Amino acid sequence: MKRGQFITFEGTEGVGKSTQLTNAAKVLRSEGIDVVVTREPGGTPMAEAIRELLLAPRDEPVHELTELLLMFAARAQHLHTRILPALEAGQWVLCDRFTDATFAYQGGGRGVPMERIALLENLVQGDIRPDHVILLDAPVETGMARARHRGELDRFEQEAVSFFQRIRDTYLERAGKAPDRYHRIDASAPLAEVSEQVASLVRSLVAASR
Ligand code: TMP
Repeated sequence: MKRGQFITFEGTEGVGKSTQLTNAAKVLRSEGIDVVVTREPGGTPMAEAIRELLLAPRDEPVHELTELLLMFAARAQHLHTRILPALEAGQWVLCDRFTDATFAYQGGGRGVPMERIALLENLVQGDIRPDHVILLDAPVETGMARARHRGELDRFEQEAVSFFQRIRDTYLERAGKAPDRYHRIDASAPLAEVSEQVASLVRSLVAASR
């Protein structure tokens, strides 16, 4: 059985990740590919429980290492019990965020040294990395306005614009270093255009895998 492809979707708040994930899944299914759609933090019942712990606004200040370790705790459970078995069964896994988000949010956003994150990445993932990362990129103000419209803000969404600016910068820096694996899409373009770009990228990944 040929291993499936592991594709992740990244970006700051409100850039349209879930819309594009649904779009990509539809394209893949129309190509006859068996797709699993999932998200981080989360993706299994236990990892979803950790997600709730992470996102709930609280009075107690959350230490950056607590946040970091919970992200990787959820990831260990999700990766080993859900993502890897699916990939090994030949399914393609589309994941809403993965470790790039940890480098961007906990590294760029919170200021945790990147080497510490890389250490946990190696511990939890060994040499597993996404085959492709689709980075939906837009000015942070555009996305934040959309996120605010969705109602109650979670613990991350309550952060200042400068926090999201550092996150965007980190994503762009990582994408610039590995252009074969990272695909930056201008998410500030009209929706139909963004969708068409994602669809054509996904079709090209299918063609390359055959
Ligand atoms: P979502 O809103 O895209 O579902 O993601 C939930 C929040 O978790 C979002 O604000 C980004 C944050 N997050 C991190 O800070 N680090 C991570 O490693 C992941 C996966 C998400």
